[in-house]
Amino acid sequence: MKTQRIGIIMNGVTGRMGTNQHLNRSITAIIKQGGIRINNDLTLMPDPILTGRSESKLKPLAEQYGIEATGKPYPFTTDVQGALDGKYGNYDVFFDASGTLQRAGFIEMAVTAGKAIYCEKPTATETAEAVRLAKLVEDAGLKNGVVQDKLWLPGFRKLRMLKELGFFGDILSVRGEFGYWVFTGLDYDQPAQRPSWNYRSEDGGGMMIDMFCHWRYVIDHVFGPVRKLVAHGATDLPKRRHENGSVFDCTADDSAYAMFLLEDGTMVQFNSSWCTRVRRDDLLTVQVDGTKGSAVAGLREVFVQSAAETPKPVWNPDIPQPINFYEGWQQVPNNMVYDNAFKIQWEEFLRHVALDEPWRYSLMEGAKGVQLAELGMKSWKEQAWVEVGDLS
Ligand SMILES: NC(=O)c1ccc[n+]([C@@H]2O[C@H](COP(=O)([O-])OP(=O)(O)OC[C@H]3O[C@@H](n4cnc5c(N)ncnc54)[C@H](O)[C@@H]3O)[C@@H](O)[C@H]2O)c1
Repeated sequence: MKTQRIGIIMNGVTGRMGTNQHLNRSITAIIKQGGIRINNDLTLMPDPILTGRSESKLKPLAEQYGIEATGKPYPFTTDVQGALDGKYGNYDVFFDASGTLQRAGFIEMAVTAGKAIYCEKPTATETAEAVRLAKLVEDAGLKNGVVQDKLWLPGFRKLRMLKELGFFGDILSVRGEFGYWVFTGLDYDQPAQRPSWNYRSEDGGGMMIDMFCHWRYVIDHVFGPVRKLVAHGATDLPKRRHENGSVFDCTADDSAYAMFLLEDGTMVQFNSSWCTRVRRDDLLTVQVDGTKGSAVAGLREVFVQSAAETPKPVWNPDIPQPINFYEGWQQVPNNMVYDNAFKIQWEEFLRHVALDEPWRYSLMEGAKGVQLAELGMKSWKEQAWVEVGDLS
């Protein structure tokens, strides 16, 4: 049995996504499970070094997760360039979960160093920049990828399964409701639960740039190619509190309403809001209506109603509703164990890097998400439908 080391420079891991999803639930979890077992003869074992700007933030993370995974702290440094130059050992992959506006600079550094590159979405806030970065890594012949985690959520995997089984018949429409109340931090004892830059467009924030990147790959992979969209956004809450305690003016959209028309005529709608209170099954729910059946997916659970089980309601507001509509749905069973979505994508990327296995979630695919967000902003500004052209 051979264990093949795969060195990973993990940049921006002190952030929310970097710490929770990438360091803890992906790389540390993979090491703790004994690596990625390829076959009886080969296991891939990640070996991370943590990089960032603040030694005092990196050190406790390196100690906590390194000791948990290997019995000793992970190496860490504030010298990103040194790590790329091989000053602290040999590393194959550069991963970035820093802020969106920092992404280009770090990707350029990693391209010069000839690393395989994996990073968080969005890769940029403008399509031209996202395409430039994608071409930069392609032209350098480097393996590359962008996080598209929602594809591995149990809810979307079950929707794909239902679609492949032919459960829906012809899919007519898809309706997604995403969001929850993100506290402003202005009220007594109600701290905000998301980073404040999300609400400043000058810092890369905004609902469309954040969520349309996700809606793009979800729609493309689960339902089919998008051809047109119309969108409207709003900055519902004008002021929020910064991490440093000050109050700032919100400059980014914190809610966005969009209709995406697919190539085959399917209508896909997504309402996305950080100013909504949840009275539905989950923080994201997606209803798919088809000629033979419908499904409502949450992040994990999916409920279905077939044509045969569809009740026949009659409109009569003069009496209490006689039908409990929730009772007419069946829960799709969990017939397998669903691992963490980020971790599954990491494992696929590391297999792609080490073994040349197929991979489709490239920086150019990520650029399509930025394109959808930018076109959403354009549609909002112009109050018009816009075409979604091919990217190259
Ligand atoms: N895949 C998803 O579902 C998902 C969800 C949320 C955020 N994101 C993306 O992940 C990225 C990080 O978001 P977050 O919510 O973790 O934000 P965050 O503010 O919690 O973390 C940002 C990280 O970047 C670091 N950073 C900021 N400026 C830097 C600089 N100049 N040099 C080096 N490091 C710098 C910060 O120190 C921190 O470690 C964003 O691009 C965001 O769009 C993805």
